[in-house]
Amino acid sequence: MKKFYLTTPIYYVNDEPHIGHLYTTIIADVVARYYKLLGVDTFFLTGTDEHGAKIYEVAKRHNKEPKEYCDFIVEKFKNVWEQFNIDYSNFIRTTDKLHEETVKFVLQKLYSNDDIYKAYYEGLYCVQCERFISEDELVDGVCPDHRTKPILHKEENYFFKLSKYKNLIFEKIQSGEIQIIPETRKNEILGKLQLPVEDISISRKTLKWGIPLPFDEEQTTYVWIDALINYLSGIDYFNLNKEKDNSYFWPCDLHIIGKDILWFHTVIWPAILLSISLPLPKKVLAHGFFTIEGKKMSKTLGNIIRPKELQEIFGVDATRVLVISAFPLDTDGDISVSEMKQKYNQLLADNFGNLVNRTFGMLGKYFNNKMTLNEISANVKEVISSTVVYYNECFKNFDIHKILDTILTISTFANKYVQDMQPWVLYKNKDIQKLANVVSDLLYCIKSVALLFYPLMPNICAIILSCFGEENFVSEDYRNLVINNRIYIRTNEFKVPDILFKKIS
Ligand code: MSP
Repeated sequence: MKKFYLTTPIYYVNDEPHIGHLYTTIIADVVARYYKLLGVDTFFLTGTDEHGAKIYEVAKRHNKEPKEYCDFIVEKFKNVWEQFNIDYSNFIRTTDKLHEETVKFVLQKLYSNDDIYKAYYEGLYCVQCERFISEDELVDGVCPDHRTKPILHKEENYFFKLSKYKNLIFEKIQSGEIQIIPETRKNEILGKLQLPVEDISISRKTLKWGIPLPFDEEQTTYVWIDALINYLSGIDYFNLNKEKDNSYFWPCDLHIIGKDILWFHTVIWPAILLSISLPLPKKVLAHGFFTIEGKKMSKTLGNIIRPKELQEIFGVDATRVLVISAFPLDTDGDISVSEMKQKYNQLLADNFGNLVNRTFGMLGKYFNNKMTLNEISANVKEVISSTVVYYNECFKNFDIHKILDTILTISTFANKYVQDMQPWVLYKNKDIQKLANVVSDLLYCIKSVALLFYPLMPNICAIILSCFGEENFVSEDYRNLVINNRIYIRTNEFKVPDILFKKIS
């Protein structure tokens, strides 16, 4: 694989980032770091979705101009991503000039291809979803997701001929040319595509907060069409800026999204691309939604978790791991802070943290932090090798929630190895050669775990690897381990890390 292009959804700026946005973005960052460490030319795009009725109304409520309000919230997103070590290649804003130009460019092409026409539309519109909603979808007269009443919307709009592409898209999804993960979601979309699919309105006459249509300045682009095109403007696919040619990243290798926006990404987006003769995204990964301690996250319930709250309890790295390990990606799940605390203590503090403490403790006590390493014992090597196989499978199959347990196989084994080998007895019996073997094996285990955890916990792993004096060899060592199944330790003098995971009560 030469290049890898992955994206998150671009988030609405009607509110500050919450744990839902964090969840998707950390998954993307972990996957991106995995490919980067493997030496693949990786482009990771995230950003914000800033036009549309919803943002316009929130800004008005705050007595701010829409752009001013967007700038304010965008800073919050950028700060949180910086805090959480989100190593994106580009942060796209739909109010960026380049994005606006790209949207106009694409719309003009759709128009010239005769895929856009003008017609009247009347329907119920949910401002929170930013989409028309049918009567059948309403529950007690309100949108089931937002519990708000849709508004009746009637005006002359431009329409995109979505129906024209329906059969072709069905084939492309069925054949796996566009791969939808998990399989259940693929079936969901295939099922929906067997029902009638209507053309969609792609413009608004009354809403000024949007990108004007290139062929009719009286109307602005529907926010979802505007937003989807970010995946092209984010790499400046059409080279409008002529700064750096990143167009070779297209087609996108992986769109990571929540299940709520699957139709837009697997039907509407491919239809636009087909119309302008661009290759289709290869994979769309839709994760489930979570509840908080069993309840739907909502402002009314006051149970929205902000990234900072988790950071204060667990620190950045542990939050990254715990959030993505909370439940399988392909299902809905629950996030419970008390469960996260339990997991933190059991898996990070008592398991891996303990292994690091006791090993460096022995290294100091028995060898004064200096040791020429022995060759790794065969049984230890075997555990590390088989873990690496499972680890790669986790990434290949997007079993992201299993990565933590998979890596911990090594440290669980190593802790048991300490118990079995009883190094303190070896020391008492002056069996220094055997003692050196054991400590040396443990150091190989710690280094392997630190490398494998690197995409998940970059800060803490950098600290551990710096104790081996090897912080500059991360990519090289990662590739050696993950691709070639080889593990090296170059130094014979070690630094002792501080406690990495303090227990939480
Ligand atoms: N702006 C659109 C996306 C346009 S992409 C071309 C949008 N934005 S959003 O701010 O509402 O973000 C939706 C995404 O946030 C979801 O797809 C999901 O990735 C994430 N999540 C928001 N709430 C979530 C949960 N409760 N659980 C899991 N993920 C959640 O839709």
